[in-house]
Amino acid sequence: MKEQNTKNKDFLSGPEILKEMNISWSEKLFKETKDQYNKVSRIIPEIEWPFFAPYIKAINILKKDMNAVILAHNYQTPEIFHCISDIRGDSLQLAKEAGNVDADIILQCGVHFMAETSKLLNMDKTVLIPSMDAGCSLAESITGADVRKIKEENPNIPVVTYVNTSAEVKAESDVCCTSSNALNIVNSLESDEVIFLPDEYLALNVAKETKKKIIMWKGRCEVHEEFTPEEIIEFRENEPGVKVIAHPECSPEVVAQSDFSGSTSAMINWVKDNQPNKVLMVTECSMSDNISVENPNVDFVRPCNLCPHMKTINLENILESLWNKKIEVQVNPEVAIKAKQAIVKMIEL
Ligand code: 13P
Ligand code: SF4
Repeated sequence: MKEQNTKNKDFLSGPEILKEMNISWSEKLFKETKDQYNKVSRIIPEIEWPFFAPYIKAINILKKDMNAVILAHNYQTPEIFHCISDIRGDSLQLAKEAGNVDADIILQCGVHFMAETSKLLNMDKTVLIPSMDAGCSLAESITGADVRKIKEENPNIPVVTYVNTSAEVKAESDVCCTSSNALNIVNSLESDEVIFLPDEYLALNVAKETKKKIIMWKGRCEVHEEFTPEEIIEFRENEPGVKVIAHPECSPEVVAQSDFSGSTSAMINWVKDNQPNKVLMVTECSMSDNISVENPNVDFVRPCNLCPHMKTINLENILESLWNKKIEVQVNPEVAIKAKQAIVKMIEL
């Protein structure tokens, strides 16, 4: 159906695709998508469902037709996270799963470095990202040339690179890490000194826990650097008994004010396991929406810091991406070989 209908056009928009697929809002569609709506009914008002449901149905049909899988990061909005994705998780889980995917197409609902990681582990597959604006302030803070210069200035010191970087930066590194394994990776290296790039706050948080000397870079996550210790103290005063859990991309002062700190999935697991009456998740705010679905007895206090890059992905551009097979992620094969080594080493450690 797809091939016939697109023959005269290079790119079809979301509404055009829905028309081609003959999908529109109706009571019948409401019944067909009821199971999906039930998953998100606590956070998406019923009045908004007529906009989401046609896209959800179309994406799920197309996914099967095209033998595609959708990988979604924990920061994606609930209709993406719960209604169309096949694999969900933090950066480490997504990287691990990307290596095991048995499909022709991987569509990444996350930011560009995540899609690039999927491509590095699947050079023979088509990897799609729905928006080229899905960047990351950390990935943009450093280039391959910067890493080469740091290595020249600090010879024979291993380089650990956070996955929130371009393939070019990974290719200059000895091993990658994510927020869930950063400390273990640093400690696993024999050297007493480690170059840790590019997140300064994650580096400082790791430095508090290790005996090794950490050489840092001044990259910051534009979402997590906004949180302040004063804000956390104020939340605790206004919300007595609230538990505070923070992502390690926050400053050490913010992490010091929290009851727990860990990767996005570690934060999710902490809530599942501890079932606090009230919790403040010091991170991107879609996370609270996503996990409130499975934790109905937990009251989420929401400081709403959105990642503008993650939020460029939506149902409309996901459908467009699948149908039009755009935007395809490409990595220079020579860079890919070296970058992949750093990721595989991380996965194996
Ligand atoms: P996680 O690896 O914890 O999912 O973090 C990725 C990220 O970009 C957080 O801002
Ligand atoms: Fe990058 Fe921060 Fe957005 Fe995560 S939340 S993708 S680190 S800008």
